[in-house]
Amino acid sequence: MSDYELIIEVLTNVYNGKNLTDQINKHKSNINISRIKYIVYGVIRNYYSIEFCIHKIVQHISKKNEIIVQIGLYELNNSNKPDYAVVNTLVELVNNAKDKKFINWVFREYQRQKESLNNLILKDYSLKYNLPNWIIDLLKKQFKNYYLKFLDGLNYHPAFGLRVNYTKRSLGEYIEILKQNNIKYIINEDNKICLEKALDIKDVPLFTDGVSSIQDVAAQYVVNILNQNNIIPKKVFDACAAPGGKTCQILENYNCTLTAMDISSDRLEKIKQNLQRLDLKAKTMVGDAFNLDWWDKNKFDLIVADVPCSASGTIKRNPDIKINRTYDDVIKFTESQRKIVLSLWNCLEDNGYLLYITCSIFRDENQDNIAWLKNNIKGFKLIDELQIIPTEYSDSLYYALVQKNN
Ligand SMILES: C[S@@+](CC[C@H](N)C(=O)[O-])C[C@H]1O[C@@H](n2cnc3c(N)ncnc32)[C@H](O)[C@@H]1O
Repeated sequence: MSDYELIIEVLTNVYNGKNLTDQINKHKSNINISRIKYIVYGVIRNYYSIEFCIHKIVQHISKKNEIIVQIGLYELNNSNKPDYAVVNTLVELVNNAKDKKFINWVFREYQRQKESLNNLILKDYSLKYNLPNWIIDLLKKQFKNYYLKFLDGLNYHPAFGLRVNYTKRSLGEYIEILKQNNIKYIINEDNKICLEKALDIKDVPLFTDGVSSIQDVAAQYVVNILNQNNIIPKKVFDACAAPGGKTCQILENYNCTLTAMDISSDRLEKIKQNLQRLDLKAKTMVGDAFNLDWWDKNKFDLIVADVPCSASGTIKRNPDIKINRTYDDVIKFTESQRKIVLSLWNCLEDNGYLLYITCSIFRDENQDNIAWLKNNIKGFKLIDELQIIPTEYSDSLYYALVQKNN
């Protein structure tokens, strides 16, 4: 199968509802995977504006031809190849003369109309920000005058955050190492590091030595929230823990015991690998946070509930979310998130804390869910809240720290 045929197959599967990361992972040993990813992610990130252009030019187009044209429109605007080479390669992907002629014609029309199409794109937020209207409308309703910050923040390239294990190197020492390796970075106001360019894991300084971990900056706020509220956890339960980013960060920062659970045994293996690499100890188990089958009746003073969610705050990284998720999915997530917290509440000591986390941008899964839980759980006291707006340097996460006050 040629690279382009593979790209068409991946895009077809994603449009049929399959997960983009899974589709890409199937081909991770392909030697051209970087280029394949570049085109697949590029097409999906620009899906709404590309589709708009295609349907301004043609009324009817077969699925395969449509995907070939999507690839072409993306490459015409984003590759170093000369236009004729892009067109010639893509036209070769269809067998019959009629389709070849048709695709050629669509590309020519696109080149002819490009300027006026681009002007139309700039006038429509769904096309300009390449997001479906339901997301734009919901953000506008929920965040009023600052919803544009979300739209901007969701449109950057995914950032490459790094977490430093401060028991092994100080921030200053690690920055020296970045400088020595000529790795450009920025540090945010909370001393969190983001590299200017993504690196291969093998090139991340001291990764295998357990000094650094790849973790989005927005996902590194567990310790900030606990410290700001003078909480020193002793007995922690991380209920939805894989791949273990927050589990490991807690263990790097507190002298505590920690049980890390996840529903997926495959993903639990990732936690074990991370613990091993970072030389940390935790009890790990497969279990379902919807029920208490796994619980030995010992209570915890901190429960981390990094609940399954729409993951809309990670759209930069997972752009298929904007194509395949609907508002109905968001509602379904809110229901399961409530169930998980209702269940975990039983395992929390009196005066203990539950840290609720999502990587969703929607109030339904965040502030509104916390309000619902407050109304439905006796002694549910909101202590602190943090909504991280997506930026060039981070995804978007939401944190709510609550206390069990009986
Ligand atoms: C947002 S991820 C957690 C990320 C993790 N806390 C970290 O910082 O690396 C959500 C996790 O919840 C797990 N999960 C989903 N449903 C679950 C359930 N009912 N019980 C336990 N874990 C669940 C998923 O397998 C996934 O690994």
